[in-house]
Amino acid sequence: MKLLFVGDVTGSPGREMVQQYLPKLKEVYHPNITVINGENAAAGKGITEKIYKQLLEAGAQAITMGNHTWDKKEIFEFIDDAKNLVRPANFPEGTPGKGMTFVNLNGTEVAIINAQGRTFLSALDDPFRKMDELISEAKKRTNIIFVDFHAEATSEKQAMAWYLDGKVTAIAGTHTHVQTADERVLPNGTAYITDVGMTGPYDSIIGMEKEAVMKTFLTGLPGRFEVDKKGRAQLNGLLITINEKTGKATAAERIMINDDHPFFT
Ligand SMILES: [Fe+2]
Ligand SMILES: [Fe+2]
Repeated sequence: MKLLFVGDVTGSPGREMVQQYLPKLKEVYHPNITVINGENAAAGKGITEKIYKQLLEAGAQAITMGNHTWDKKEIFEFIDDAKNLVRPANFPEGTPGKGMTFVNLNGTEVAIINAQGRTFLSALDDPFRKMDELISEAKKRTNIIFVDFHAEATSEKQAMAWYLDGKVTAIAGTHTHVQTADERVLPNGTAYITDVGMTGPYDSIIGMEKEAVMKTFLTGLPGRFEVDKKGRAQLNGLLITINEKTGKATAAERIMINDDHPFFT
């Protein structure tokens, strides 16, 4: 079984890259399930119901989120009905939405979990203990478990990866919007990458117009950041090969599509 994960889709350039390249990726890699991080899908901040549905129609079976989950206020109106959308599981008890969902692939269930780190991000509940809880719940139904760990600090992501090695099928980091080249399968069968990267503006600063971000660094003044639509776009992802009997990963392959790393079919 193969799982394709697409990193933080950012604004319309990101959504257009999904429309353009997801069919091609499916043709070449034949993933059984596609998961997309959509926390920046609506103009770089949050997600709307319309975009959530568009991403599913484009070929995803589940959407993960992150610290931008609540940026679009309409999320509160549809999150509890959005079966295939997960937000960080370690928000306090009673927060709308859920942190884990199950996708059924012809009788084989895949658990999709989203959690958020606490280093240089909001002080949520302990993601490590939360993961223990969710994994024991998931294992009652399946041993195929995918985790999107949305975190800033490389050390926290590596700590989570080693903590989960052998307990989940894969853990992919998101949030920094810059892909790391450390994809691997850990010794006990968990696929890992520190950050899968971002799908959206390539000639940008983490997806935003570079001029506005540079100005903030140069002046120290607050700025208004918009998704860059002038430059080129990219798609970042990770393809995980899974032994569905054991729930262990056997391979992890990084996907980077941009003008410097063109996609050939
Ligand atoms: Fe993001
Ligand atoms: Fe984020």
